[in-house]
Amino acid sequence: MAMTATTIADQRDSALDVTRLREEFPVLHQTVHGKPLVYLDNAASSQRPRVVAEAVASYYAEYASNVHRGVHALAERATAAYEGARAEVQRFLGAADLREVVFTRGTTEAINLVARSFARPRLRPGDEVLITAMEHHSNIVPWQLVCEEAGAKLVVVPIDDRGDLIVEEFERLLSPRTKIAAAVWISNALGTVNPAVELVRLAHQNGTPILIDGAQAAPHREIDVRALGCDFFCFSGHKTYAPGGIGVLYGRLEHLEAMPPWQGGGDMILSVSFEKTEFNHPPYRFEAGTPNVEGAIGLGAALAWLRGIGMERIERHEHGLLERATARVSEIPGVRLIGTARAKASVLSFVIEGVHAHDIGTVLDSEGIAVRAGHHCAQPVMERFGVAATARASFALYNTFAEVDALAEGIGRVQKLFSLS
Ligand code: ALA
Repeated sequence: MAMTATTIADQRDSALDVTRLREEFPVLHQTVHGKPLVYLDNAASSQRPRVVAEAVASYYAEYASNVHRGVHALAERATAAYEGARAEVQRFLGAADLREVVFTRGTTEAINLVARSFARPRLRPGDEVLITAMEHHSNIVPWQLVCEEAGAKLVVVPIDDRGDLIVEEFERLLSPRTKIAAAVWISNALGTVNPAVELVRLAHQNGTPILIDGAQAAPHREIDVRALGCDFFCFSGHKTYAPGGIGVLYGRLEHLEAMPPWQGGGDMILSVSFEKTEFNHPPYRFEAGTPNVEGAIGLGAALAWLRGIGMERIERHEHGLLERATARVSEIPGVRLIGTARAKASVLSFVIEGVHAHDIGTVLDSEGIAVRAGHHCAQPVMERFGVAATARASFALYNTFAEVDALAEGIGRVQKLFSLS
């Protein structure tokens, strides 16, 4: 029987019923190379529960249509579902106003939108954009592009040997020249949980607006953008149990209202003539063209489902997995953890002396264990730790302690194969 948000909510006070939750993910119940699948690549993309697949399938089967454009029944139903998903995102983020929720293709597009439409017009030669040394490429390159155009400078806050952000440096590097700051909440490569509230406070104390990249935070913890106080926040559907190609930019209404459009097309206008085009209001001003309707509907279904489970319970469960994984993996001789920050969530990056990360990934795959191997789109982080790449296990609500043990045993087999133990 498919589990609904309500039936899960009934067990809110108990620990996460992982066995039952796993029933919602048909993809998990398969063998890979003859071994039961152990899916530990959730920071790249999480799996999608049945409820999300059903929401998308029902759009295709019952009311596939464009939104905001038709007066016929299907179009009205599609529009209601699309806007219903926006309301679900608003609830998920704790946003004050529905107009603060812009659908994008994902986190990357959301950051590009802010860089292009909010930051670019404000940047003058000599101005600065402040980011951290643990950013994903998507929170580096968009800023580099606009800085280069404007003659502005990208300033980078360093991290220490554990992978903790040096917050005093963040404070020191904020100056009257800093026109915007951007920081990741949870690092995809290290698992570091940054003190987001503190970073927002420091930025605002300096009069600097700040974007928080929530791509890795959204699937793992409660979010309240009003309590965070950030100016912008973004996350992606495909890491949050939802379809790919959909994501969200949250922006404070006063900012969005003042921002020019960044892409032109249908739906982002009020009227068009060859002489003059009048732009639509947020959020539609930033949603040019036919949007990813089914993606948004799937995202709404995923977030409602997560709400039913309770983000605190998810966070607690994943914390237990990470603690066990850290303890098991760090006791294996020849294994070095990359990222041992004081506060971490859901990500365990490691290297094995004498074995390339891709070989670790390949051998683990032959054991049915899926991890990511590479630079995780965070090359400066790899450089900071003096490695070309790491293997990375990342956890989701459906992972079990037995899977963590399988990872540790898999690492042992990698070492045996390379005759390291
Ligand atoms: N940003 C994704 C990851 O960390 C793709 O794997």
